[in-house]
Amino acid sequence: MEKIDILLLGAGGREHALLKKLSESPRAGRLFVSPGNGGMLMMAEAAPVDQENPAEVATWAADNGIGLVVIGPEAPLVAGVADAVRAKGIPCFGPNADAAQMEGSKEFAKRVMAKAQVPTAAYRSFTDRAACEAYVRELAGPCVVKADGLAAGKGVIVAQTTEEALDGVAQCFDGAFGDAGSTVVVEEMLSGPECSLLALTDGTTVVPLATSQDHKRAYDGDKGPNTGGMGVYSPVPAVSEDELRTMVDVMNRVVAQLKEDGITYSGCLYGGFMLTEDGPKVLEFNARFGDPETQVVLPRMHADLLEVFLSCDAGTLDTNVIQWDDDWAVSVVLASAGYPGSYESGKRITGIDEAAAQTGITVYHAGTKLDEAGVIHTAGGRVLAVTAVAPTFAEARERAYAACDLIDFEGKQFRTDIGARAL
Ligand code: AMP
Ligand code: GLY
Repeated sequence: MEKIDILLLGAGGREHALLKKLSESPRAGRLFVSPGNGGMLMMAEAAPVDQENPAEVATWAADNGIGLVVIGPEAPLVAGVADAVRAKGIPCFGPNADAAQMEGSKEFAKRVMAKAQVPTAAYRSFTDRAACEAYVRELAGPCVVKADGLAAGKGVIVAQTTEEALDGVAQCFDGAFGDAGSTVVVEEMLSGPECSLLALTDGTTVVPLATSQDHKRAYDGDKGPNTGGMGVYSPVPAVSEDELRTMVDVMNRVVAQLKEDGITYSGCLYGGFMLTEDGPKVLEFNARFGDPETQVVLPRMHADLLEVFLSCDAGTLDTNVIQWDDDWAVSVVLASAGYPGSYESGKRITGIDEAAAQTGITVYHAGTKLDEAGVIHTAGGRVLAVTAVAPTFAEARERAYAACDLIDFEGKQFRTDIGARAL
């Protein structure tokens, strides 16, 4: 069997989960990562490339006989790394830059949704600050202000009052989110539980993955600032069959609309939904796997991820390639004290092996670093994602938290209510 060497870009828990799953493929050859993290570098080699530099990534991949480049985060996608890799004739998992606009520009995504007649919050888009402020005053109540471009998970202000909305508009136009805020989208405020649905696609065929629910706020009870995600579970029991059908239909329509517009979306499309009283509505699309959603979706998946990714690139994705466990998965993020604000790094982490040895547990590394002595230290805000799978939801939760207690580092911070809502 001819082995395929893989280059995976990214450094989060999502990428560690992708790497583990890819490494289980019988055809997986040498594994390279850039930049990677402590956990990833225990199972792969570092590739000396800047993950956001299309030419550098594509040239290195070609020179080193890479047979598949997998792009984890949004920034390289929006920068056109997939385009450059494909231009060298190398298979790539992740959309080209034009398709990645589904995440790279909220206004672009809104226009596609309107054309595809997908349910989403009503909105208006502004490049003129005075017009934007006038509109927010006219709404005279709750609304959501969003910087148009990539803002690393920030850039969304859920405003209960006109003052908060005006403050959000000011932040965007004053450059708090860099260039991302030079166009501002103002949306109707929706309410209801949130649900993420990831789907794999080759631009024509769409394969929805399991539903999951992220916990975005930093502290218990959904208090505190928004983060990249503090924990997640899958599947989401609150989702009815009707709601799931609507969400799957949305994913299909969006991919079909892009195709009609001459854009092949190849990779993972992430739909962020709110389950409103009028049915599921789209909050946002991302052009990649979710983090930490991936850490609960992949452990329940039975598929050869390498073959699936190659078929997404080749346009030969089969609807029946993935089977699912009946198990439940819960993942709890262990973060550094202070996250999502400033935090200290370099804290020695203990207990990972002991936690990972427990039944049903996988410990995914995010902000970690492996030193020369082979010791793992903290190196980021979100440090580890501790995932448990079990036959019941309650058991998965118990296993995850028992494993979290075995791991220690100075300043360890985590939510104690991940999945509590679903019980
Ligand atoms: P986004 O990055 O667009 O998903 O926004 C981040 C978070 O802001 C979402 O997960 C929601 O909790 C919230 N949000 C975004 N858009 C809306 C909306 N139209 N109505 C209510 N909440 C929203
Ligand atoms: N967990 C949210 C995201 O990946 O965007």
